[in-house]
Amino acid sequence: MCGIFAYLNYLTPKSRLEVLDLLVTGLKRLEYRGYDSTGVAIDSPDSKNIVMVKRTGKVKVLEDAILEHFSGGEYSEPVMTHIGIAHTRWATHGVPCERNSHPHRSDEGNGFVVVHNGIITNYNDVKTFLAKRGYEFESDTDTEVFAKLVHHLWKTHPTYSFRELVEQAILQVEGAFAIAVKSKHFPGECVASRRSSPLLVGIKTKTRLATDHIPILYGKDIRPHGQTRELPVLPRSDSTSEFMPLEEKEVEYFFASDASAVIEHTNRVIYLEDDDVAAVRDGTLSIHRLKKSLDDPHAREITTLKMEIQQIMKGNYDYFMQKEIFEQPDSVVNTMRGRVRFDGNAIVLGGIKDYIPEIKRCRRLMLIGCGTSYHSAVATRQLLEELTELPVMVELASDFLDRNTPIFRDDVCFFISQSGETADTLMALRYCKQRGALIVGITNTVGSSICRESHCGVHINAGPEIGVASTKAYTSQFISLVMFALVMSEDRLSLQQRRLEILQALSNLADQIREVLKLDSKVQELAKDLYQHKSLLIMGRGYNFATCLEGALKVKELTYMHSEGIMAGELKHGPLALVDGSMPVLMIVLRDPVYVKCMNALQQVTSRKGCPVIICEEGDEETKAFSSRHLEIPRTVDCLQGILTVIPMQLLSYHIAVLRGCDVDCPRNLAKSVTVE
Ligand code: F6R
Repeated sequence: MCGIFAYLNYLTPKSRLEVLDLLVTGLKRLEYRGYDSTGVAIDSPDSKNIVMVKRTGKVKVLEDAILEHFSGGEYSEPVMTHIGIAHTRWATHGVPCERNSHPHRSDEGNGFVVVHNGIITNYNDVKTFLAKRGYEFESDTDTEVFAKLVHHLWKTHPTYSFRELVEQAILQVEGAFAIAVKSKHFPGECVASRRSSPLLVGIKTKTRLATDHIPILYGKDIRPHGQTRELPVLPRSDSTSEFMPLEEKEVEYFFASDASAVIEHTNRVIYLEDDDVAAVRDGTLSIHRLKKSLDDPHAREITTLKMEIQQIMKGNYDYFMQKEIFEQPDSVVNTMRGRVRFDGNAIVLGGIKDYIPEIKRCRRLMLIGCGTSYHSAVATRQLLEELTELPVMVELASDFLDRNTPIFRDDVCFFISQSGETADTLMALRYCKQRGALIVGITNTVGSSICRESHCGVHINAGPEIGVASTKAYTSQFISLVMFALVMSEDRLSLQQRRLEILQALSNLADQIREVLKLDSKVQELAKDLYQHKSLLIMGRGYNFATCLEGALKVKELTYMHSEGIMAGELKHGPLALVDGSMPVLMIVLRDPVYVKCMNALQQVTSRKGCPVIICEEGDEETKAFSSRHLEIPRTVDCLQGILTVIPMQLLSYHIAVLRGCDVDCPRNLAKSVTVE
């Protein structure tokens, strides 16, 4: 999805070229989110105007254009205070092209320029309103209306501050957005806000900050609305006037869609909440609320990021996805760290422990997510049913919302999301919360919307996942849900043996993942056999059905090949018709309670001249005899097999993608964090 990066230096001299370099680096850190065009805006050398450069395609194309455009010596002069804004756009309204790229401007004189993530749903109404007042539009985007609306408000309310203008504009727009605005009429100032789309402010000072909190301001000084009454939507604002901001002498601020863009500059950030308006003026940051509500805290906390810059760099790997696949022996341990005590067979999930009695009394568990996160729910459902003895429903967030699914006060709803920002999952969360259910967030992103809006939850602690295709987050989500099942069964005597068996397997997991990763070169050879085919069927059942779905998703998104995850039990009900000597098939056949049934499916495939690749257990000669191509994985407890079987699928999709020349880390048309419905 789109990415915002803005940088403001106050009394910290930087040339415009240095600012541009910072902006481009910031955009590079956001590349993984997925995008199709880019742009930046900075002050002109005389500081009287704003100059913008926009390009279709990668940040590198923008970088080259910047080098060409800003070659003059005047751009090397240091400036004490400056604000630059930058953006990666993932097209929603209008095709990817320079005209539709951000920043968007208010007028030919570039009075106000805006970068925006999300969708302004009432943009047509606002556009009609502005068109009647003589505004002409140069793009197909919803964002442009925002820039022009701020301009209109500025003309009609000449005494308003920059922040007030942006606040007034925000009051008129509906939908989900994060925005950052720069203006030549308010030099050195930046105003940013969010609603259902992430935005944080990074703060860098020479000395330690004088405070860990920024007070939230409400006030009385908003003027009557005047002409804005003609706008289609006009709620009253009760925002803001007293000024108790963060005042630092020399300071740099970074506004970004996520922490990976700021971590190399500062680890001190404030995660903005919906309808917060963050404004910097004279080097002073203040946070204002559009509307006051009873449960508002008095201040926004400055959080210290634990992330390290190395975590968002590729290191010796060719791709982030490759790095993330190979990180799994460590990431699964990080998920369990401080939670699983292998010596005492105890598990504590600090984020939900106070809610366990309530969860045990619930009517049912609902696991809700999208894509890979949904698959982690499919993968663990059987174990959750077994160890909690509760009904467990697994739902795709989008479908769940379409159905207006009945939700009750005694339901416990899990929202599983790597990013913590997926719009469908977030909407489903709000839907369930309104109906009184207990909300449990399972996320990888501290400070994300799902994290903040949940009653309780588990951070999966997989570390930043940059490759668009989810890998290590999946295995960590899987383990988080297994740990939850173990917590729920702690006092069930009849389940102790089973729990011990699982805990034992968890303690061996990292080493076993290392073993599976050694299959890499064998998988690469296999990829050479498969990469020119059009399709790949992946079959399995029981605990490994989720691997089939997840493997097929990985193949589709990375290689653009058709792939289908097939429940082996369904083979005779249709999919068997696809099988012949030329159709590539991969089958997961492990020694677990459904082994005999899987062997049955294997025989059906081979008797139709199918020559499947078999994922089986080490040394299982009987199963291997059915095909010349196999990948052997170590034996583990049935409910954790899915972690070991998914890794060859991750590697296979990765290698096929490389062989087909696909963009491994940023597959076409996809985004890392899907913040639109
Ligand atoms: C696939 C993939 C997506 C995400 C889905 C949900 O590799 O990454 O299917 O799993 O978009 O994203 P999160 O987990 O961030 O809610």
